Amino acid sequence: MTHSIRKAVIPAAGLGTRVLPISKVLPKEMLPIVDKPAIQYIVEEAVASGIEDILIITNRGKGIIEDHFDHAIELEQRLEASGKTEMLETVRSLAHMANICFVRQKETRGLGHAINCARSFVGNEPFAVLYGDDVIMSDDPVCGQLCRAYGAYGCGVVGIKEVTVEQIQRYSSLKVSPLRDNLYQVTDMIEKPRPEEILSLFSILGRCILPPEIFDILDRTAPGAGGEIQLTDAMKSLARSQGLTGVDFIGTRYDMGNKLGILQATCETALKHPEVGEDFRRYLLELSKRL
Ligand code: UTP
Repeated sequence: MTHSIRKAVIPAAGLGTRVLPISKVLPKEMLPIVDKPAIQYIVEEAVASGIEDILIITNRGKGIIEDHFDHAIELEQRLEASGKTEMLETVRSLAHMANICFVRQKETRGLGHAINCARSFVGNEPFAVLYGDDVIMSDDPVCGQLCRAYGAYGCGVVGIKEVTVEQIQRYSSLKVSPLRDNLYQVTDMIEKPRPEEILSLFSILGRCILPPEIFDILDRTAPGAGGEIQLTDAMKSLARSQGLTGVDFIGTRYDMGNKLGILQATCETALKHPEVGEDFRRYLLELSKRL
């Protein structure tokens, strides 16, 4: 896969208050979708999109994310001794998926502040952002879909989807004009619009490609909603000055920061799982008779 995006940042330092109490000690990014933690699907998507270097932004108590992408020597020795070669390979490969680095966001001051912690990792090149609690399943990795749009238009790219009128009032609403196929030009946006302020039902969901200029913009961005430095405030400034490309991506998104999203991800992934899929389908059919 050839495109110019080599680096990705995965912010995973949020407090996850919508999925408490489990997220008190277990990072929501480590919640299982059948047998893999959410963040593994996200790292796999980045790797399948041609990304070589990944920075995961963590904070206190999220050390198990680092452990997951490291060797587990004792476990590997045990699997080797008992001849469980396939599982041994699965476990070992986690330490070699990509060049993964970690940095801590020392205060939880919002997604924009988290992204700003990636400045020295990113340097002076465009980079992908994959939100740590947004798992998007697709045969054509969504990060790669955005990288191709960056290659075609050369400005920042946002993954977009149409949402309902009720949802858009909690998200950001984008001013868009069609470019071709599923691509749009984004020239403005408004955060949490009132009904009369809605620009379109398109909102930014889970993935973007940002130019390095975003860091200077973030430095100048004052705290917004909830007293946090909002990435969308900085993106608005990019949309107005340089324009952004919106990709109405092909993929199924699961919001792992919300309880229903977690259940949907688990249920739909379990149905497709080679080991448990058939049994789970039978179980669901039985169960549905009693609903
Ligand atoms: P969210 O706003 O969905 O995460 O941020 P949150 O703050 O954990 O959610 P609630 O509202 O308390 O339940 C989107 C992504 O940005 C990361 C989160 O980990 C998530 O992956 N994030 C958010 C940070 O890394 N740092 C922050 O200060 C805030």
